Amino acid sequence: MSSRFTTPRDIYFGPGAIEHLKDLKGKKAVVVTGGSSLKKSGALDRILGYLAQAKLETRVIDGIDPDPSVESVLAGAKILQEFGPDWIIGVGGGSPIDAAKAMWVLYEHPECKFEDIREPFTIPPLRNKARLVGIGTTSGTASEVTACAVITDFKTQIKYPMADFQLNPDIAIVDPELTYTLPGHMIAYTGIDALTHAIEAYVAKAHSSFSDAPGLMAMQMIFDNLERSYLGDLEARNNMHYAQCLAGLSFTNALVGIAHSMAHKVGATFRVPHGCANAIFLPYVIQYNSKDPASLVRFADIARFLGLPGVTNSGLCDSLAAAIRDLNRRLKIPGTLREYGLPEADFKASLTAVAERSLVDICTFFNPRAIDQPTMERLLLCIYEGEDCFF
Ligand SMILES: NC(=O)c1ccc[n+]([C@@H]2O[C@H](COP(=O)([O-])OP(=O)(O)OC[C@H]3O[C@@H](n4cnc5c(N)ncnc54)[C@H](O)[C@@H]3O)[C@@H](O)[C@H]2O)c1
Ligand SMILES: [Fe+2]
Repeated sequence: MSSRFTTPRDIYFGPGAIEHLKDLKGKKAVVVTGGSSLKKSGALDRILGYLAQAKLETRVIDGIDPDPSVESVLAGAKILQEFGPDWIIGVGGGSPIDAAKAMWVLYEHPECKFEDIREPFTIPPLRNKARLVGIGTTSGTASEVTACAVITDFKTQIKYPMADFQLNPDIAIVDPELTYTLPGHMIAYTGIDALTHAIEAYVAKAHSSFSDAPGLMAMQMIFDNLERSYLGDLEARNNMHYAQCLAGLSFTNALVGIAHSMAHKVGATFRVPHGCANAIFLPYVIQYNSKDPASLVRFADIARFLGLPGVTNSGLCDSLAAAIRDLNRRLKIPGTLREYGLPEADFKASLTAVAERSLVDICTFFNPRAIDQPTMERLLLCIYEGEDCFF
């Protein structure tokens, strides 16, 4: 069976890489961005300066909130239709870049409603009106290189993971200087999110040698740099920005697994930040998936690659889970949902519904080991209490 590995055509990386915006060819550009951090740091002005050097007429859509809403996407698409850009530039964390991707679809296809495009692999052909540049300012989601856009319907509390290779940006800019203003907890959460992308992708059903290679490199770079980046070392911060992008190249092609399924649903129900949820879940999910013989071998491969101690496959797999728990501790991330502070009564009241929703999340389909409703509930309960998941 043949497969596909899709990336942006160009990835510009390194301190100062946003200067490549001055080489864009076109007439009009819209910059889609989030809150005030880019303005305060002067980065937005530098971006607009480079676009002016490229002689592009520019408009800014700002104020895209974390977890962008359907409404913000519809409002942005309307502005794009009025202005008619040939470049759309999403700058920020995953939220503004994802919003830019969804706006782009509705700009190219005004006949579509959000309901027509929110399910995976339903996006009609793009690039008849505009192309997309993704510029990441957090070091985790790697939306600048992925084929995904997560848009939330706050009326129904549903997060739609739009996914289609049409959505891959044409150009990704991975400029670590943009991440220097990130607060410590975000460095920790988004960094472990990137580690979860790489590890889940490595064992996911759709993994291939093409996705394995950037994924392994990402894991090694994250173990070597995340804590130092968290403590303020800027060289490590640069390396984390590249590592999360490599993890993105891996997971956008191989997909991820049930740590993400649960993080999506626990996150939406209890507002646990995405990366923090993944950080808590990952060691337990490794235990659960290690009962799949092929995954056990692959977890052991990761541990060997990282130089972790162990002789047998299960010993190496245990070392991997322990190394993640240890990294979490050093980043001050709790080890269980109870420790996170989720009230027991609320958690138990929602357990069945959260497990049901996690089960139908698209990421569950790509998890290497099948799971059913009672087992998903048991897994969530173990994660709440901090019990081993060898079942
Ligand atoms: N497209 C994908 O492939 C993909 C993958 C995983 C998750 N997601 C989605 O991405 C979103 C999360 O994205 P995120 O974690 O990158 O954060 P985000 O974009 O939601 O931003 C979170 C906060 O960080 C601030 N921020 C961003 N960059 C900053 C900087 N350099 N300095 C200081 N503050 C900064 C923002 O203003 C915001 O307040 C979620 O909606 C998630 O579901 C997308
Ligand atoms: Fe993630």
